[in-house]
This record gives sequence, structure tokens and C-alpha cells, in this order.
Amino acid sequence: MRLSDFLRMNAKNILRKMDKKILIVYYSLDGNTRFVAENIAKNINADLLELKPIKEGVPRNFAKYFWGGRQVYMKQKPLLCDFGLNPGNYEIIFIGTPVWAFNYTPVIASFFDKVKLEKKKIALFCCSGGVKGKTFEKMKEKLCNNEFIGEFHLFEPLFNKKRSALKIKKWVEKLNLIFRDSPGPNL
Ligand SMILES: Cc1cc2nc3c(=O)[nH]c(=O)nc-3n(C[C@H](O)[C@H](O)[C@H](O)COP(=O)(O)O)c2cc1C
Repeated sequence: MRLSDFLRMNAKNILRKMDKKILIVYYSLDGNTRFVAENIAKNINADLLELKPIKEGVPRNFAKYFWGGRQVYMKQKPLLCDFGLNPGNYEIIFIGTPVWAFNYTPVIASFFDKVKLEKKKIALFCCSGGVKGKTFEKMKEKLCNNEFIGEFHLFEPLFNKKRSALKIKKWVEKLNLIFRDSPGPNL
């Protein structure tokens, strides 16, 4: 098939892809979830938003399990730094979190409080050291007025970056974001 024929047949889908605004929102204390977010962004045209608490109340040493776990059980919602963008302007939103105490992190809870997402296409991802519990289910409860297009869980991706990057690529490809809304050309 000639390039001009291909472009004519797929013009609608190509334009649709260019129109689609994709955001990847995440929190990461030790870099695992950041690694996943950045690798998703390598595979699709998306903006990245790393959520940062104004005051990081959790240290990056062994005490993180105590202080982080405490934040979850106390249902704390740390104040967040400015986003510098409006998540409401995006059509597709990836949301990523580390698993803390079988749940999503307090920083993500702050994000859910601050930004009311509705009628978005949402893909969820999380990183854990073993058991993710009901992390996705709990996120979905908070995001109930949206459509879920996928979810992805990785065990400590920084342990094996190459393998993790491959898994992320496969997942993103499976989401088939280009032709999701349209049947594509009749061949
Ligand atoms: C406070 C705290 C609680 C955690 N709770 C869990 C848990 O319930 N289940 C689990 O599998 N991993 C748990 N982990 C491990 C993290 O989910 C895991 O190391 C994750 O990859 C960290 O992501 P990050 O590097 O993006 O911060 C916990 C870690 C911390 C700091």
C-alpha cells in the first residue's frame, strides 16, 4: 500500500490520536512507580505529573514502614505541591501508586480529594513488594464516575529494569489507545 493511500484511509484515526490528551499521574517514594510512569511515557505521547507532598513526612530509610503505614491508618492526606497543569483537561489518565498497607498511598488520597475526575478513561498501575491487597478496588471506588481501560501491577520493577520495561511496553500496547474509540479501516 502506498503511503498516501494509508494516510487517506487512516486520517480519522491519526487525527483522533493527535487530539487525545494523555496524562500520567503518580507518586513514588523510592523510584519504582516513577520508573513505571516514565516507561509508560516512553511508549505513548503523554504528559507526566509526579505528585509531591509539600512536606515529605516519610523518610527514605527503614522507618518509612512505620511513618508511611501510620499515614495510611490515620487516613492522612498530605498537602500537595502545585501541579502546574489541569488534570481535568485530559481525556485519558494513568494513575500510579506504590502499595502501602495493602492500599494506595496518602498522596494519591490527597489527589483524589483535590481533583474530581469524571467521565475520563482511567488506567491504574501500582508497584508493591508482594501483596497489593485491594489497592485497585479502592482506587476504583474513589473514581467511580469514570471508565476503566486497564490495570497493571508490578513487583519491585527496579529489581530488574530491563524485564520490567518490557512488561510495561506490552501492557501499554495492549491498551490499544490509538484505535480504542473507532473500529479503524474496514479491510
Ligand atoms: C509504608 C509502606 C508500606 C508498604 N506496604 C506494602 C504492602 O502492603 N504490600 C506490599 O506488597 N508492599 C508494600 N510496601 C512496599 C512498596 O509497595 C514497594 O516497595 C513499592 O515498589 C515502592 O514504590 P516506590 O519505589 O515507587 O515508592 C510498602 C512500603 C512502604 C514504604
